[in-house]
Amino acid sequence: MARRTEPVSDWAQDFDVLDAGYIDDPFKVWDELRQTCPIAHTNRRGSNWLPTRYEDITAMAHDIDHFSSVEVGVIPFEGEEPEENLLPYGLPPISVDPPVHSWTRRLLLPWFSHRRVESYQAMTRDLCAGLVEGFLEAGSVDAAGSYAQQIPVRVVAAILGVPLTMADTFTEWVRDVLEFADDIRLRERGVEGLIGFFTEEVARRKIEPRDDLLSYLLHSDVEGEQVEEDVVLGMAALVLVAGVDTTWSAIGSSIWHLATHPDDRERMVNDPEVMGLAIEELLRAYSPVTMARVVTEDVEFQGCPMKAGDRVLMNFPAANRDPTVFEDPHQVLLDRELNRHVAFGSGIHRCAGSNLARMELRVALEEWLRRIPDFRLAEGAEVTWAGGQVRGPRQLPVVFS
Ligand code: HEM
Repeated sequence: MARRTEPVSDWAQDFDVLDAGYIDDPFKVWDELRQTCPIAHTNRRGSNWLPTRYEDITAMAHDIDHFSSVEVGVIPFEGEEPEENLLPYGLPPISVDPPVHSWTRRLLLPWFSHRRVESYQAMTRDLCAGLVEGFLEAGSVDAAGSYAQQIPVRVVAAILGVPLTMADTFTEWVRDVLEFADDIRLRERGVEGLIGFFTEEVARRKIEPRDDLLSYLLHSDVEGEQVEEDVVLGMAALVLVAGVDTTWSAIGSSIWHLATHPDDRERMVNDPEVMGLAIEELLRAYSPVTMARVVTEDVEFQGCPMKAGDRVLMNFPAANRDPTVFEDPHQVLLDRELNRHVAFGSGIHRCAGSNLARMELRVALEEWLRRIPDFRLAEGAEVTWAGGQVRGPRQLPVVFS
């Protein structure tokens, strides 16, 4: 969806993360800013700061006293707040500070442990294999829409225990909330869709608990108190919102990279041992996720006069291209060993689903490469990218023989 934004002439003082050129290629903007004004500012959609250095971004992520998570949307809500606040805590644990953060995160973590994630692997593999088999004969496919986008939504739906047949609707709601968040009408459609759906699913599990994450949350108690239904709804919606767009973007960007870098593609096919390091490198280079923080009180950070209520965009993708931390940051080195990337964030909100995301990315690439070792962008292909909160390809036409 093409957005209309006022052209940017000064990235240091008037940046816009929805600028079409920036969405396609943000890397040169970050390089320039790191040299000239490492924490940029804009008054578009409120007063927002955009750090670009690894050191600043990780320091802010750890300073939860000054940088709160009560509003993490990169595109702020600009309409009137709805009268009835559907979710008083938003989507915990991502949208809360301690103490609510600590126990809501603790409830989720066991569902995404290494061991648990291994148990989702066979299902993910079958899913990916089936998808590739479905378009293999055709010799061409939109690898974003017909492959990457189809995988995480089904894996997450299975974990939550909600019908896989709803996959397309879930995808639509998640895109409404994250990708089209600057359109109030779409954002509301997404939020209402998600909450309405989970409210009904919760009602069913009150009567008939099942062996799924939703039932577990609903029937958990924390220090003798049952978890409030609002919190359960928010957590369930978060797992869908955090687990879908993010991972499909990472899978899509990785396939884009391999379609446009034949040497790397051949290495991945001929040297499967490199897969572990390659996954980390692809996550570093094409980190999909930026989060926001709200400044809690006036503070001067690296000489920038930040005011209470200002927002800071936790630019994890730019941190991962910082040349003071990563040698040749724009070079994808599949076997890069020194790679302390922050694609999954840093500090107390570090991604709770990183084991799952890594497994899905690995299995999606393995099953694709096993059947389609040789592929490239279709001639004249129009590749489109989404940006803002989550960056990744949305249309990725590739051909193979
Ligand atoms: C490649 C895929 C993914 C990326 C790049 C990613 C990235 C991130 C980042 C950067 C954060 C930190 C948020 C912050 O600092 O405000 C985060 C948090 C989170 N992610 Fe992921 N994520 C991915 C996949 C997933 C998956 C598959 C799930 C689960 C289904 C998930 C669940 C969560 C949750 C629950 C949080 C909140 C943790 C907290 O606030 O304590 N993510 N993710």
